[in-house]
Amino acid sequence: MERLDKILVSQNVCSRKEASRLIRQKQVTVNGEIATKADVKLDPETAQIKVRGQALEFRRHIYLMMNKPAGVVSATEDNFDETVIDLVPEQFRRRGLFPAGRLDKDTVGLLILTDDGDFAHKILSPGKHIYKRYYAELDSEPGESAVREFAAGIKLNDGTVCLPARLRLLGKNRAEVEICEGKFHQVKKMFAACGLRVEFLRRMAVGGLELDPELDEGECRELSKDEKSVIFISK
Ligand code: URA
Repeated sequence: MERLDKILVSQNVCSRKEASRLIRQKQVTVNGEIATKADVKLDPETAQIKVRGQALEFRRHIYLMMNKPAGVVSATEDNFDETVIDLVPEQFRRRGLFPAGRLDKDTVGLLILTDDGDFAHKILSPGKHIYKRYYAELDSEPGESAVREFAAGIKLNDGTVCLPARLRLLGKNRAEVEICEGKFHQVKKMFAACGLRVEFLRRMAVGGLELDPELDEGECRELSKDEKSVIFISK
């Protein structure tokens, strides 16, 4: 059971102060009755709450897909750069919203944002083997030897050994790579270990979830229930 004003705040309807005001102004109903107290306790999963006649669709957590543009950092705060959180439209903002995994400042593509820590952990933990697929443009053409090295587990220039990864050559200095870990600059370092420099990197998929081609860079939208579960279906 949770306080009515807290529920409204958690759903980003208003601030705590505004919640009290809305309730005083008789703008909030619970199960068809005008709410009179901000601290009344309710089960947000079952109570029918309306604010100014509009039904509140309660969501315990929020799950967003963003097409991250270049030039913004995958962090919640930064002293210098714009963050991915700054790009999230007001209606999706939640306290505790964070990117589930990091893309470099110059990397674009699929980024999942959520306020659900357990969900993020399931995506990121290497033990869960959720593959992340990237499209890469390189400074020169990778050869079949790179495919074999990726498959065997690349040894980075600093000696770290990566888990086996799938590399698919697309011709014209382009390739697709799938990895199930998220070491810092991992894809760039893996190619660097084969003597190649990444000039452009886009994340295309996380598990079975593909980047929505309708989503422009900088845009985000909520994930459907199916999309949320398809993340955990690996191919
Ligand atoms: N690997 C990288 O090198 N950069 C990213 O942004 C993601 C994976």
